[in-house]
Amino acid sequence: MKKPILVVTAHFVKPVETRIDNEFEVRRKADGTSFQQDELLAAAEGADALFITPSDRLDADFFQRVSPSVKVISTYSVGVDHIDLQAAARKHIAIGYTTAMTDATADIAMLLLLGASRRAFEAQELVRTGEWTLPRSNALLGWQLTGKILGILGMGRIGQAVAKRARAFGMKIHYSEPHQLPDAIAGDAVFHPDPLELLGVSQFLSLHAPETDKTHHFLNAKTIALLPPTAIVINAARGGLIVDEDLIAALKSGRVAAAGLDVFEGEPKLNPGYVGLKNTFLLPHMGSATVESRTLMGMGALDNINAVLAGRPIPSLVAA
Ligand code: DGY
Repeated sequence: MKKPILVVTAHFVKPVETRIDNEFEVRRKADGTSFQQDELLAAAEGADALFITPSDRLDADFFQRVSPSVKVISTYSVGVDHIDLQAAARKHIAIGYTTAMTDATADIAMLLLLGASRRAFEAQELVRTGEWTLPRSNALLGWQLTGKILGILGMGRIGQAVAKRARAFGMKIHYSEPHQLPDAIAGDAVFHPDPLELLGVSQFLSLHAPETDKTHHFLNAKTIALLPPTAIVINAARGGLIVDEDLIAALKSGRVAAAGLDVFEGEPKLNPGYVGLKNTFLLPHMGSATVESRTLMGMGALDNINAVLAGRPIPSLVAA
């Protein structure tokens, strides 16, 4: 039987690669580099499906020009901000996503919380450069999590998983979401219908909202001014939620005590201002980077593709 044609834009963990090779006729870029939009459109000619990552930006122009043979596009991410969903719907192309990174990403948010609040960058530097010579009784004093308020913007799956972990550290949870969660899910977390009100109480602020027109540049000079003095800011969602220049200015002045960031606007490039600061703990967008999570994500993405091609309901479908 003829295998469906799948365009694959990245390389994945071995079990996922094996399944791709077994189940599909695969099209990739021979040199292993990322597809430019025209190259992706050319590869998609006559293909049944595309397996993409957030590095591939599929805009309205892409969907205008994409081959009518393409029935489904599955992204190796929970975020879908790189895809124009309305344009996909107009072309009747199903868009699949995956939620298998919830725990891994919540773990990274905790690493950011701890890394930023306990000055992990400076501590690592001290140890690795050999500058740790004398007992430093009062050096590298950080800020404890116990008893502090963690404000979570975006209390979806990942936000909830962060809340669960943070409670175990003795933190009090406040959150903002478009709709209040049922008590069975929210537990003792305090709901703020207005995200600006959430900022006012957030000694620690952790961003877990998707990037949309509404949330783009949510954290800027004006909103930073609403945070309690010396708040700590965490972002494991999307870089575009923050105006980098404004956060950098606040980190320089001490208005924000520290930031833990896994995502950056324009990544993999990041504003060099962050790198020059000691009160930043920076990671290269690795929220989902565990063997377990990346395997499940890949398998889930392929399940989405197979379901659409077989005319079955798609396990994780994004509605435009
Ligand atoms: C996601 O799944 O959206 C993660 O941020 C990885 O890109």
